[in-house]
Amino acid sequence: MIWTTEQRYRRIEEASAEELSELRAKVKGCKWRQTFHIQPETGLLNDPNGFSYFNGEYHLFYQWFPLGPVHGLKYWYHTKSKNLVHWENVGIGIAPTNEYDSHGCYSGSAIEHEGKLYLLYTGNSRDRNWIRHSYQCLAIMDQTGKIEKRKEPVIHHIPNGYTNHFRDPKVWKEGKTFFTVIGAQRENKTGCVVLYSSNDLINWKFEGEIKTNLGAFGYMWECPDYFELQGYGVLIFSPQGIEPYEDHYQNLYQSGYIIGEKLDVERLSLSHAPFQEIDRGFDFYAPQTMVDGNGRRILIGWMGMPEIEYPTDKSGWAHCLTLPRELTISDNKLIQKPVKELELLRKQQYEIQDVIDQEKKMYNGFIGTTFEMICDFENFDAKEFGVEFRVGDCEKTIIKYDSIQKKVILDRTFSGQPVAEEYGTVRKCFLDAAKVKFHLFVDTSSVEIFINDGEEVFTSRIFPQEDSKGIRFFAEGGKVLLHATKWDFE
Ligand code: FRU
Repeated sequence: MIWTTEQRYRRIEEASAEELSELRAKVKGCKWRQTFHIQPETGLLNDPNGFSYFNGEYHLFYQWFPLGPVHGLKYWYHTKSKNLVHWENVGIGIAPTNEYDSHGCYSGSAIEHEGKLYLLYTGNSRDRNWIRHSYQCLAIMDQTGKIEKRKEPVIHHIPNGYTNHFRDPKVWKEGKTFFTVIGAQRENKTGCVVLYSSNDLINWKFEGEIKTNLGAFGYMWECPDYFELQGYGVLIFSPQGIEPYEDHYQNLYQSGYIIGEKLDVERLSLSHAPFQEIDRGFDFYAPQTMVDGNGRRILIGWMGMPEIEYPTDKSGWAHCLTLPRELTISDNKLIQKPVKELELLRKQQYEIQDVIDQEKKMYNGFIGTTFEMICDFENFDAKEFGVEFRVGDCEKTIIKYDSIQKKVILDRTFSGQPVAEEYGTVRKCFLDAAKVKFHLFVDTSSVEIFINDGEEVFTSRIFPQEDSKGIRFFAEGGKVLLHATKWDFE
């Protein structure tokens, strides 16, 4: 279906009750609905927004177009949770209502101030000539969950030297001062991040552009996020326009970070190590982090890519969010681990230990469409070993280690319904290790694989048939000692 501009920019009130219930029914009938990931009831989800811990609960909003699987008029949809595992759908958090956000309440972030949660977001508007205007706006949520928008934007103007691609404020506080980074495009069409400061979250001062040593690195940097962890400064952002290079930057757009000394807010400089990708899978973009009540730095990303068709589109919905990951730093690198609370999902457990020697093996209980599984491989002389899951007559998804090239390889060539095949069906990353651990979270239409306790993560959507449930371990050109534990989910 081709969506006209008019259809894309319809407000939810413009849809009749009948249209909405038909859409809901269509979504409900989709065989790829997730079971333990945040997903939209209808329509399209993209970036996580306003991820925070407030008043004893986690709050998480996301970019939402309710009326179909396209990037149309964006709302903030609100979800909340006490444990990061079970999320409650609250409803629309911020709706486009005025001249400043008439064409979408775009991405932003949240921070607690004077007992309330301040939500800073980008008002996206288009004028009669379809020229984009960006405003940074504020909405305030009180203890009862009521959210009120401030009439006027808190940042009206784009500073000289930047285009209207100016969005996605991520706010934090240092001492008594609030700061926000904003993703921007310079007039010469290169991406960057700028910094503002404020004492009250309402009056903001433009501090300038953050100086990195990346030079011209893509044409736009979306969704920046700056935080400090273990004495380091980390700047996450999602650059657009980076060319593929060896095993890197294989997706349409990238998400990654630079890590180094803490940001010097006076000199606006960040001295840092090279850009590194956060995730090595097919579907990961625009992540956002927060610190929770226990001081953990937690990241959630959008499990999707802009401008790409997905098989669920036909059923009236698209995308989900990733599971929450706890971040730490080791060797100038972000280490990402699924948050401990996810163990709450574990039900029936199966465990095996075996040597796999130039063969494929299956085991009792190792079957399913939604599960968690940890596979430890050691003592290997095999050239290649790994696991195939969601295996059916003609389908399988493969995660394996190539011990000659020293690479982890995710292969979704035969995963089921194809997605974005023009960007390839295999993702690889270098890993030099004597022991290899794959920690998988498999949902109806996705997989998140944590490699060697979070050194790398591969996140991807997959669209297999419902009866593709098999799990097969294999080794080629030698043997490997395998220890695997699997948990079925509720
Ligand atoms: C990233 C992004 C943001 C923008 C939002 C709009 O996916 O393009 O830059 O705020 O999505 O939905």
